[in-house]
Amino acid sequence: MQNRQPFFYDITLRDGNQSLKKPWNTQEKELIFNHLVELGVQGVEVGFAAASEMDFEACSRLAKISPNNIVISALARCVEHDIKKAAEAIKAAEKQRIHMFIAMSPFNMEYVLNKSPQEVRKQAIEAVSFARNIMGKKGEVQFSVEHFGDCHENIDFVIDTLQEVVKAGANVINLPNTVERTRPKKFVDLVEKVYTALPKDIIISVHNHNDLGMATAVTVESYFAGAVQLECALNGLGERAGNTNMYEVAVALHNSDVEVPLNLAKIYELALIISDMSNVQIYEKAPLIGPEALAHRSGIHQDGAVKTKDMKKGAYRPIHPSLIGRKDDEKIGFTSQSGKTAIFEIITEAGYPITLSEAQRIAPFAKEEAEKIGELSTRNIIDIYTNNVLNVKGAFKLCDMQEFKNGNIKLNFMYNEKEFNIEVSGNGPVDGCIKAIQKAGFTCEFLNYEQKALNMGSDASAMTIMHFKAPDGKIIISRGCDESTLKANIKAIFNGLNIIENLKK
Ligand code: KIV
Ligand code: ZN
Repeated sequence: MQNRQPFFYDITLRDGNQSLKKPWNTQEKELIFNHLVELGVQGVEVGFAAASEMDFEACSRLAKISPNNIVISALARCVEHDIKKAAEAIKAAEKQRIHMFIAMSPFNMEYVLNKSPQEVRKQAIEAVSFARNIMGKKGEVQFSVEHFGDCHENIDFVIDTLQEVVKAGANVINLPNTVERTRPKKFVDLVEKVYTALPKDIIISVHNHNDLGMATAVTVESYFAGAVQLECALNGLGERAGNTNMYEVAVALHNSDVEVPLNLAKIYELALIISDMSNVQIYEKAPLIGPEALAHRSGIHQDGAVKTKDMKKGAYRPIHPSLIGRKDDEKIGFTSQSGKTAIFEIITEAGYPITLSEAQRIAPFAKEEAEKIGELSTRNIIDIYTNNVLNVKGAFKLCDMQEFKNGNIKLNFMYNEKEFNIEVSGNGPVDGCIKAIQKAGFTCEFLNYEQKALNMGSDASAMTIMHFKAPDGKIIISRGCDESTLKANIKAIFNGLNIIENLKK
C-alpha cells in the first residue's frame, strides 16, 4: 500500500485548455488558477509557453501571482527553443518546473516522429540535461514518456532510457496513457515496473486520458502501484474524451482512507464554474457532479435512499453530497418503476400530510399515470393525492347535510344512481352523519377522528383525519379538507366510505 500523500498536479490550464474550442486568455486562466489555489492543488501546469504569445503571457502572469507552496510548471517539447520559452515564462514562480515530453512507443517513434529509438533516447537525455542546467539545483525537471501506455513491447528500452534521463537531471517521471486503448491492469503493471526500477527519491507521475472511460480507475490504481503525482483536470477536460477527472480521483482516494490534500467541499461549485467557462456541459449522469448523480427512480433504491438519508454512508450513493459541497439532496423521482416511498417523500416535501399506508394506496394510480407520461411532476402527484386522498371519487356522493336546532341531522346522499334522504338524531354532526348512513343500510364502522389546522397554500384550512374499519378488518385512514370544520368532517366520512367501497373492486 502506498504510504505517500498524493500530489495533485492540475492540467486543466494546459491539456484541458488545448482541447477547448476557444482556449482561455490570461484573465480567464487567472480566474481558474485562483480557484485551483482555493481547491488546494499541489502543482499547476499553467500552459505550453511556446504554443502562442497568449499562452506565454498567461504562463508568465500565473507564475507571478503563484503562492510559494504551489509548483508551477510549463510544458515544452524536447527542443531548446521550447525549453527556453518555458523557463522564461515561469521564472517568477517560487517553485518552478519545466515539463518536457517525447513519444517512446514503437508506433509513434516510427510513424509520427520518424526517428529511431536511439535518436529519441539521445534527444530526451540532452533535453533534460539542458533543462537541468537552466533550472539549476532549485527548479524541478519533469520528463514525460508520451504514449507510455503503448510501450509494452519496448518497456526495457523505456526503463533504460528513464534511468539515463534521471541521471541527466529529471526528478519527476511522468507516465502518460496518452490514448487509453486497453485494460487498466496492463497500464498499472507498467507503472509498477518503472517504479521498481527507478531510485525511490524520483517522483512517479501518471497522466491518463479517458478514451475508454477508465482514466479515474487507472489513475487511482496507479497511485497504489507507486505513482505519487496524479495529473488530473477539473471536470475531466482534456484532449478527445478528456483527462482524468480530479474530483473522481480525489473522492475515490478519500473513500479508500487516503488522506487527500484538497478542499473537497469546493468541488461542486468549481465544477459549475468550469462548465460555464469552458462551455462544456456537465453530462447528466456525470459521477458526483451530474444533475442526475443523486437521483433515484426505482422503488427499491428510493426505499434504501430514504432510510439512510441523513447517514454518512448512504445505501445508494458513494458519498454524502455535502462532502463535495453539493447542497442539493438525493432526488426522488416518480416513474412506473417507483413505489410508495417516493409518493410519501414527494407529498411530504410539498407540505401535505400523508401516511405511508395512504402512499401505498395511491401508488398504483401514480404508476398508471407514469406508464403513460413518464416521470411525474410534483404537480401530477399532488393531483393524484388530491383525487385519491382528499376528494375520493366512488359510489358515495354527498348532496346536502342539514343540522336542525333540536340536534337532528338530515343527510341527502347518492349511492351510485340511488338517492337517500335520511333524518336521525345524533350526538353532534359526525355521529349523526354516521348514524344516517347506517340507517340507510350501509356498514360504516367508525373508529376515531382528529382535526388539524392546515396551511397548504390553498383554501382548505381544516383537515379531519378519520379511521374506519373496513369489512375485511383493515384500518382505513380518510381525510377531509375544507374551510369549515364541519364540512371537513363530512368530507372525511364520505372519502372513507369511498375508499372502502373502492377496495372491494
Ligand atoms: O497525453 C500526453 O501524453 C500529454 C503529455 C504532453 C504529457 O499530454
Ligand atoms: Zn495529455
